[in-house]
Amino acid sequence: MKADEVLTAHHDVLRGLLRDLAETSDGQTDRRRELRDELLRELEVHTQIEDELFYPAVVDVSPLLSLAHAEHRQIDDQLAVVMRLALDDPEFTTEVRMLESTLRHHTFEEEERMFPQSHALGERRLEELGAQLQQRQRELGRSGGMRLIMRLKRATLRTRP
Ligand SMILES: [Fe+2]
Ligand SMILES: [Fe+2]
Repeated sequence: MKADEVLTAHHDVLRGLLRDLAETSDGQTDRRRELRDELLRELEVHTQIEDELFYPAVVDVSPLLSLAHAEHRQIDDQLAVVMRLALDDPEFTTEVRMLESTLRHHTFEEEERMFPQSHALGERRLEELGAQLQQRQRELGRSGGMRLIMRLKRATLRTRP
């Protein structure tokens, strides 16, 4: 798979999780916890493989990088808001929908603008990069280090005033 195909497939996972999370009701706290933790995990992995591998690879062919980095920070901030809310908070769905809208905008910009720009790297490079992204995605998904970072991050987000 080429790099843009790997990332687009992962965008579908993220968009699906946000849609499912937004559709939960205030009483479904277990389901919310499960989906929210999965979203945190997948978003961490996604942001990291882009920041670490994809964005540096397209730095010469895409003028959108600083905007994309700013949007990653915005997504992170909005995710922090969702993480801090009680699972039955009446504002939960509103905040999830705002995060969903930011993520939809960001992934749309990547898919419609940045990924076409990345085609300037050529098919071979995109295939090679796609393999690297998938390998890193697997490593981060199963690594104990990543789980530890997530636990710490969750703890930090919950105790922040
Ligand atoms: Fe991104
Ligand atoms: Fe992305």
